[in-house]
Amino acid sequence: MPEHRAVKRVRIPFAGREVEFVDREAALRQLGELAEGGTWWPLVIYGPEGCGKTALLRQARAVFEDYGYHVVYVDPLAERVEEVLQYTPSIRDIVLDVARRFPEPYARIVDVAISVASHVMRSLSRPRVAVLMDDVFQAVGVDRAEQYVKTLLNLIEWPPADYDKVVVLVASSEGVTRERVGRHRWAEIRAMWNMPREGFQQLYEHLPSPKPPTDEAWRLTGGNPEALERLYRAGWDVGRAVDRIVREGALDAWVFELGDVGRRVLVEVLDEPDILFYRAGDETVRVVKERLVEKNLVARVWQRDPDAWIDVPPPERDPELGIGKYYAWQTPIHREAVKRALEAAGR
Ligand SMILES: Nc1ncnc2c1ncn2[C@@H]1O[C@H](COP(=O)(O)OP(=O)(O)OP(=O)(O)O)[C@@H](O)[C@H]1O
Ligand SMILES: [Mg+2]
Repeated sequence: MPEHRAVKRVRIPFAGREVEFVDREAALRQLGELAEGGTWWPLVIYGPEGCGKTALLRQARAVFEDYGYHVVYVDPLAERVEEVLQYTPSIRDIVLDVARRFPEPYARIVDVAISVASHVMRSLSRPRVAVLMDDVFQAVGVDRAEQYVKTLLNLIEWPPADYDKVVVLVASSEGVTRERVGRHRWAEIRAMWNMPREGFQQLYEHLPSPKPPTDEAWRLTGGNPEALERLYRAGWDVGRAVDRIVREGALDAWVFELGDVGRRVLVEVLDEPDILFYRAGDETVRVVKERLVEKNLVARVWQRDPDAWIDVPPPERDPELGIGKYYAWQTPIHREAVKRALEAAGR
């Protein structure tokens, strides 16, 4: 086992403050391994909305830079424009030069990043290059996700010049793209889950009192940092937080459109997400499953082999948190939102 150095933890926003990246020890070890070996394929990381993918990529930048990589990072959906494209200062001139070649660099930021990576390979002698892409599938559209992954694979396999090591990481919360990208052997796909109990506790400690007991926050969020943030912002009023999720996802209309038969299946899924696996042959079950995955409410968690995951896999089964062997509610509060929408539809 190679020794892994202790990397500085970056500071990231959380619930209106800045906190140090917490926990995710296993993920940090995995990033160290990737840095040492490079990636043979683009590594696509999927996980529930708000589980901490963006946080992980920001920390990843620090890890790779520590290993001597020149990093280019894009987050097309970032709130602040200066966060859309970030890079190691060593490649500043290359980035500016490439960006000038695009009439509208921000409109084609994914292409800009890929072009930067190939220019770095051409301009520097056997460099280490890391390309980190956050939420790019949402930005380029599902239809083009496969094409972009192939382009990234080409960068690894047919580089414009010799490189020492290259790492390509793509993060996405989109359940549907997983199916599409997963069809090809163009990428390695790994899933990421919400935070484990201890890490969640550390994050929770950053929030000011008064606040409910940790156990309660855990039961509601299942360790999802964004769900925790939502609860905090709703003044710990669970009903309000749930209503917001219903509204944002237009869940009541969606549940209504499922029809009586679909809604009956959905009621069963509340308690037992695994019926989506066991009764997959049933047409209604199949439709409900596709919708739940598409809407980022339920995730497929088919295996618990640690190599299929970034950081630690979810528990084998945890009915209270809505985690089955094959499928899991992304968070308990999302399950609560669906329950509320079902009640509104009068079942
Ligand atoms: N390990 C961590 N340490 C500290 N803060 C974290 C950690 N993981 C996540 N957070 C914080 O929790 C919030 C949600 O995480 P983040 O935005 O990274 O999730 P995400 O998976 O990228 O979500 P989305 O699917 O919406 O893109 C952010 O404020 C983030 O900074
Ligand atoms: Mg994100």
